[in-house]
Order: sequence, then structure tokens, then C-alpha cells
Amino acid sequence: MTNKYEGYYSGKKGEMLNNQYQIQKELGSGTFGSVFQCIDKQRSKYVAVKILRAIDKYYEAGQAELKTLIQIRPLSCQQVVEVLDYFDFSGHLCIVFPLYGQTLLELLKANEFRGYNIDWTRELSKSFLLGIQAVHSLSKVHTDIKPENIMSKGKPVSTTVRGRVFVHPPGADLVLIDLGSAVEVDKRKPVLVCTRQYRPPEVMLGLDFDYKLDVWSAGCCMFETITGRTLFRTHNTVCHLMQIQKILGKMPVNMYQQAAQLKRCKEIDSYDLQTGLWCFPSNYDEFEKQALAGIKTIEDELEGNKYSLIHLIRWMLRWDPNERPTIQQVLEHPFFNDPPRDTKGIQTDADDWKDVIDAFVNGQVSEQDFIAWWKKVGK
Ligand SMILES: Nc1ncnc2c1ncn2[C@@H]1O[C@H](COP(=O)(O)OP(=O)(O)O)[C@@H](O)[C@H]1O
Ligand SMILES: [Mg+2]
Repeated sequence: MTNKYEGYYSGKKGEMLNNQYQIQKELGSGTFGSVFQCIDKQRSKYVAVKILRAIDKYYEAGQAELKTLIQIRPLSCQQVVEVLDYFDFSGHLCIVFPLYGQTLLELLKANEFRGYNIDWTRELSKSFLLGIQAVHSLSKVHTDIKPENIMSKGKPVSTTVRGRVFVHPPGADLVLIDLGSAVEVDKRKPVLVCTRQYRPPEVMLGLDFDYKLDVWSAGCCMFETITGRTLFRTHNTVCHLMQIQKILGKMPVNMYQQAAQLKRCKEIDSYDLQTGLWCFPSNYDEFEKQALAGIKTIEDELEGNKYSLIHLIRWMLRWDPNERPTIQQVLEHPFFNDPPRDTKGIQTDADDWKDVIDAFVNGQVSEQDFIAWWKKVGK
């Protein structure tokens, strides 16, 4: 049955879709529609069926998602959602996927938001970065990278380490889902894309965006994978920019100039040109004040972790999108070539890295010099 006002399909257990897929239960729902676990009666397999809302704009969004899914198929990328079938059902576009395990958010929750260790973080991140790389190779930007749109392929498993249970995907296999917001980089419009917490500054400022938008969001997801915590907890654009400012330092003034010229950012008055700082708007609430007070620098937030990871996240989270690495550069970064920690978990490179990270943060070392340095002393 379709909810007339919102267009969602409220599927009942046992109901048949397209004479082939029998609904078992709802797995999740979002802006675009709902996803149901079904049994594919022809192949005797479990599948996930995404039923788009029966409203023109969501039907069209579903068609765009389908187009991307079909374009990405020939790449045979194991880290991007695979499409098995699609059909129209009572005015709803339905897309059939393999049934995956849990989202990265559910996995983090299952681990009580303690975060994964560095070796797991490396493997898990690599997995979803490869998914993003595949999307970028189609000249598209995903625009909605977040833990809810990253899933473990198989059913998660529990392992006991030193008496503590930890839940993880079998292998480190993650898959990027929800290509519903993907846009061609040449046809993008300056609209408010991306889920709040993972939204980069250029989008908030109404500037043009490109692939580097996904790099920012991926950096936030990597932070969340290692710490278990969402980096930016906020509901207010100015407070969000203030949190970024506290973590990264002042926004480059040219970003302000572009935003002022384009006039798409209605919060621009909260930027103080004299000090070069974002200041509290009149409508902030106590929660935002506390969230801001709790924010530390990336170096402090990630203290105790390998410097290569700190360096990489710091690079992915540059204010200026042009200064962020491409996904290719992220995957080639030393962090992904770091040897695993020894059995006692001792991070042998800590002292070597500290000076270089400090120099990098202070702008005394360029990316090229940094990578060249690592190649010489690393391993
Ligand atoms: N293939 C799948 N297997 C299992 N659950 C899925 C699958 N695809 C989506 N889901 C669940 O449904 C939710 C919504 O799906 P998604 O494609 O992200 O739709 P939306 O565009 O509405 O956000 C996901 O966050 C996840 O919990
Ligand atoms: Mg989604």
C-alpha cells in the first residue's frame, strides 16, 4: 500500500513484488524510499529491494540512481553496490540489490562507539575509498558519503580480543551504497548536497564543488571509524564552520571573498572580516556551545595514533578543496602502506613522524616533500 501523501510504500510481510520478490521485513528507509529484505523466489536467495517513493521527483531520482548503477557495472568494482534487477511496481521504481550485512554506523554502534583499531581502520577505509574511486572514475561525485551509506557485505561477525567482544565485517569487506545523490561533475549545481555532519565548507558557503567534496566526507568517516565518534556534531551551519575553524584554524580569506561574491550563503554575516573568524550567530543554542567547547585539534583528537593517519586525515580535511588530495592520492598515501603494528601495539614510527607532522601543520613542509621524505625513511 502506498502512503498517498508521502509516497512511501508500506510493504507487508509475505506480499509479492513483481511476482518474484516476497517481502520479509523493512531494513531501512531514507528520503528516497524504503528498503525491504525479500526472498527472490526464482533464485531462492535473499535480496534487498529499494522501493522509491511514488512521487515524480523521487521516481526521477531513482532513475538517475539506476543509470549510475548500470554505468558502474562494467567496472566490476567489489566495493560498490551491485544492481541485480529493477522494475516498476504500482508507480514505484524498485531496484533489487544483493542483501548486505550492516551499515558502518550500525557496526560502530555494535562496538559501543569505541572505534576500530588502526589496522582495521586501514582496511575498512581502503575498502570504501575504492568504492568512491570507482564513482569518481565515471566523472561523478557521490555527494552523500557517510557511515549509513557504507555497508558490510556479509553478516558481521564477533571476535573476542582480550576478553572483549568486537564486531566487524567478515574480512574487511565494505561496500559503498546509495548512489541516489551521485551527480556528474560537469552538471553539478550549487545546491545544498551532502548530509550535514559530512558536508564540506565549500557546500556550506555556496561555492562550486567537485570530487573533493567526497574526499572531505571520507575524511570524516575515517575519523569516525578510528574514534567511534562523529567529528562534527552540529545542526547549525555557522556553528559547524566554527567547529571546523577550531579544528583546522582560520578559513582562507579567498573562500570568504568567493562566497561574498556569489551571495549564496545566507550565513555569511557571521564571518568577521577583521578577525577572519566565524562568530556565533544569534540563534545558536546551548548544545552547540557545548559541542564547540568539546572540540579539539585533529592532532589532539587522534593523539596516540600513527602520525601517518593523522597526516592523511589532516590533508583530507583542508578548508580549500584544491588543497585536498584526490582519492587516488589518498589511496597512495603512506598510511595505506604502513606496516601493521607489532604484537604489543607499539607504534615505532611515532617520534620520526612528530616533527614532520608539526612542520606540515605549520605549513613548512609541502605534500610533495612530505611524501618524498616518507618514501626515503619509511619501511
Ligand atoms: N543491499 C542492502 N542490504 C541491506 N540493507 C540495505 C541495502 N541497501 C540499503 N539498505 C538499508 O537501507 C538504508 C537506506 O538505503 P539507501 O540506499 O541508503 O536509501 P536512501 O537513499 O533512502 O538513503 C541503508 O542505510 C541500509 O540501512
Ligand atoms: Mg542512504
